[in-house]
Amino acid sequence: VNLRPYNSFGLPATAQRLVRIRQEADLRRVIDHPELGLCPKFVLGGGSNIVLTRDVEALVLKMEIMGRRVIEERDDAWILEVGAGEVWHDVVRWSLEQGCPGLENLALIPGTAGAAPVQNIGAYGVELKDRLEAVDVVDLVTGRPVRLPASVCALGYRDSVFKQTGFGGLAGKSVITRVLLRCPKPWVPHLSYLDLERKMGETGISAPSAMQIFDWVCQIRQAKLPDPRQIGNAGSFFKNPVVTEEQCRDIIGRDPGIVHYPMPDGTVKLAAGWLIDACGWKGKSVGGAAVYERQALVLVNRGEARGAEVVTLARAIQESVYGRFGIRLEPEPVIV
Ligand code: EPU
Repeated sequence: VNLRPYNSFGLPATAQRLVRIRQEADLRRVIDHPELGLCPKFVLGGGSNIVLTRDVEALVLKMEIMGRRVIEERDDAWILEVGAGEVWHDVVRWSLEQGCPGLENLALIPGTAGAAPVQNIGAYGVELKDRLEAVDVVDLVTGRPVRLPASVCALGYRDSVFKQTGFGGLAGKSVITRVLLRCPKPWVPHLSYLDLERKMGETGISAPSAMQIFDWVCQIRQAKLPDPRQIGNAGSFFKNPVVTEEQCRDIIGRDPGIVHYPMPDGTVKLAAGWLIDACGWKGKSVGGAAVYERQALVLVNRGEARGAEVVTLARAIQESVYGRFGIRLEPEPVIV
């Protein structure tokens, strides 16, 4: 099976076997299968957060469980239930149409609903962590379904128990089949991100509706992030690094322009895009892999890139940022 259409970077790779999972019963069948049940498995959602550097030997489970329902209206929230295979952006739009605001800042993030908790997607001041009620998972060995409350998912900055491979981690051990979202009542807009403040200034709208914020977020993203359907990419390629206040002061001393955000715990988050940009990487390339001209944190496929070229480019960026700032950038997508 050609995996190129199934990863947003558009990288060439194949899988020996791929099974489409449209309902829980399909998973059961795979797990109970005398041969397939035992082989290693690779769970694939929208493929928007992976870098394929080689062919996949594991059995690929392509998650296509659909369905969207408002399952409960409580005094303090609406609870939505969506299938893992739903396209995330469609879920956001649908939730607003149902009169359940709260996901608007997360508009236009590529990928599926099932992948959203894996890396705790976030944008413009809101993280999935703030909206996740629970996830339904199925154990890939026993086939047992379990509902995990968000509190046990270890959601951190672009991280969760589903991404972790060590002891207690669930990567490769269970698969997300459904996601339960919580849109809190009353609705509170999140507008403190610079790009959104700018939109308020430009339009003169000081109390935007959730739909208005949705439109703004779409416009902001379209202006600086490449559409994976046109230019292959996996969103931000590195996490924004967190440093101590002291380290930050040190860097400001040398580079006063550095974009940084103080965190509640006293540490400081630095804009990785700024660091990469400052090292002159915008527009640079290795083979078909390049640094996007409008956002240095995004690596793109200029057409015929191979996974190895993306990784080579990423390493060169890491070395150059380390050389100049002494900061190690950590990749955000999963390198396969
Ligand atoms: N900047 C530069 N040069 C660049 C890119 C950025 O100077 O080439 C500066 C910008 O001027 C801006 C700052 O860096 O002041 C931050 O940039 P931006 O607002 O674009 O956000 P980001 O920190 O680069 C993060 C997330 C995005 C998310 C946006 C909006 C991570 C790794 N990335 O990007 O998430 O959409 O904030 O909230 O946290 C993703 O994870 O795939 C992703 C796209």
